[in-house]
Amino acid sequence: LSVDASPQNAQVIPGNMFGIFFEELNHAGAGGLWAELVSNRGFEAGGSNTPSNIDPWLIIGDESNIIVATDRSSCFASNPIALRMEVLCEASGTNACPSGGVGIYNPGYWGMNIERTKVYRATMYIRSSESVELTVSLTSSDGLQNLASHTITGDKEDFVEWTKVEFDLASSGRNTNARLQLTTTKSGIIWFDQVSLMPSDTYMGHGFRKDLASMLANLKPRFLKFPGGNYVMGNYLVNAFRWSETVGPWEERPGHFNDAWAYWTDDGLGFFEFLQLAEDLGACPLWVINDGASLNEEVPSATIAAFVKDVVNGIEFARGDPQTAWGSVRAAMGHPEPFPLFYVSIGNQECFKHYYKDNYVKFYSAIKASYPDIKIISSCDASAISPVNPADLYDVHVYTSSGDMFSKSRMFETTTRNGPKAVVSEYAVTGNDAGRGTLIAALAEAAFLIGLERNSDVVEMASCAPLFVNDNDRRWNPDAIVFNSWQHYGCPNYWMLHFFKDSSGAALHPSTIQLSNYDQLVTSAITWNNSQDGNTYLKIKVVNFGSKAVNLNISVTGLQTDIQTFGSIKTVLTSGWLRDENSFQQPDKVVPAASPITNAGEQMGVVLDSYSLTSFDLLL
Ligand code: AHR
Repeated sequence: LSVDASPQNAQVIPGNMFGIFFEELNHAGAGGLWAELVSNRGFEAGGSNTPSNIDPWLIIGDESNIIVATDRSSCFASNPIALRMEVLCEASGTNACPSGGVGIYNPGYWGMNIERTKVYRATMYIRSSESVELTVSLTSSDGLQNLASHTITGDKEDFVEWTKVEFDLASSGRNTNARLQLTTTKSGIIWFDQVSLMPSDTYMGHGFRKDLASMLANLKPRFLKFPGGNYVMGNYLVNAFRWSETVGPWEERPGHFNDAWAYWTDDGLGFFEFLQLAEDLGACPLWVINDGASLNEEVPSATIAAFVKDVVNGIEFARGDPQTAWGSVRAAMGHPEPFPLFYVSIGNQECFKHYYKDNYVKFYSAIKASYPDIKIISSCDASAISPVNPADLYDVHVYTSSGDMFSKSRMFETTTRNGPKAVVSEYAVTGNDAGRGTLIAALAEAAFLIGLERNSDVVEMASCAPLFVNDNDRRWNPDAIVFNSWQHYGCPNYWMLHFFKDSSGAALHPSTIQLSNYDQLVTSAITWNNSQDGNTYLKIKVVNFGSKAVNLNISVTGLQTDIQTFGSIKTVLTSGWLRDENSFQQPDKVVPAASPITNAGEQMGVVLDSYSLTSFDLLL
């Protein structure tokens, strides 16, 4: 393996090359990265044919002592449904309520994770024309273990109007499958709306589940593409992601049915929160807009103007100063500084649609007129881009088998060098090879990414798909990060991404492998500066996609300084079997293992394990 590390032959990899793509799929956000513990907090949840239902709320008691129904009496015009709870039993006497009372409970998203001594912020809106005595508690899933409770009391007049009630619940115990209960032993009618329970310690205090957000931060992503995927479009436009309905006070957001992936989202994780997440991760936001198309519909060009205006407004929300109409909404949400939104993708894999190209040009012109510095990404490939259908970048999605993904490490070698650059914003090995995240899938994707590095003169950005799966709602396999209410682990391809987290903005050096009768190796070499320790490293990565271990002589030329043995590290991702996966039981079965390189130097003999990804990080 020969590496020419001379600076004059290096080429700079784009600074935003490796990022992440978040889609509200598999309960990635609602019941996932967004730390809200109550599911269907506004009782608005519906399906394609159901205007509202209280699911997953359930009743404590029976029809002899409690009647629960939704009505349209909320104080929030944008989400009018409230829950009416009529209690028929009384504190004592012949019609006494069961001990512990009657009421409702919310099990969260397949159980709430309540941790000992942790504080949870409860918020709810209540209304009643009678005196109130309501116990709000965190309990085990059967209601028997009490973890925390608070009693709301009020006289007849206190809750005649809708009243916001907020308090903290400090848990005395731990339960990963807990629920939130609202119970009483007092007869009468109480209405509830917008019942929320948030852990007090979210990532950077911005509402993101800490363990999951940290998994993202550890990848050092340079961009965050959001919010989808098919989620952006919906099966039908009525269910598409509408950015303007996801901003402002959370209580006033209508929420919507994510019909692409068949679940309700309260839109706590809205447009503002995506921009905030990007900022918190140190990543550039990349917004995929709804361009008037769903999976089954299209708005014709004659009537697309309202969609175009809506997108320009969305950019003003992100970037406008606080004096502008939409910039002021952002500022009121606590972020007067603009968010650096410089990438906008027009639609999601829609080039084939009838109106796409005509509509695209209208979005392009309107965005460029107000924001010429925004880079616009087309859903059409490079061949369709021309002066009449202009684009700064074009979107590429690759879903294929592991063997084909490995061979696609050469995909961009024949691409014309002078056209717009590619954004490979979705790629994954799928099908049998992929399982629920196998080693072989990760290695094929590693080879593909090495190919992107080597061709980063024509590839600007890359992100895998999908990022997250809540193990209770697997709509798509495989995914990079798996979680439930309290656990998480990275699949082999999550760990594979760590091998690329220093590549964005690094110098790529020519590297070649000469090996007869074995074409299963793919390699790249970069130098990068580690701002944490102030050192420069030459990183040589090699995927061995075959069943043979390989002895390799590495030869480095053109270096200005010597390679230091002490401080040079080899990191290997491999496992006993090519279909090995991680799991909650064995989260570390396939993870990188690091060891010192005792013979580090400009000439060194190394051994590559079969089915492995190896990084040689040579300290300069
Ligand atoms: O990543 C899952 C889905 O795959 C995305 O929603 C869509 O864009 C693609 O087809």
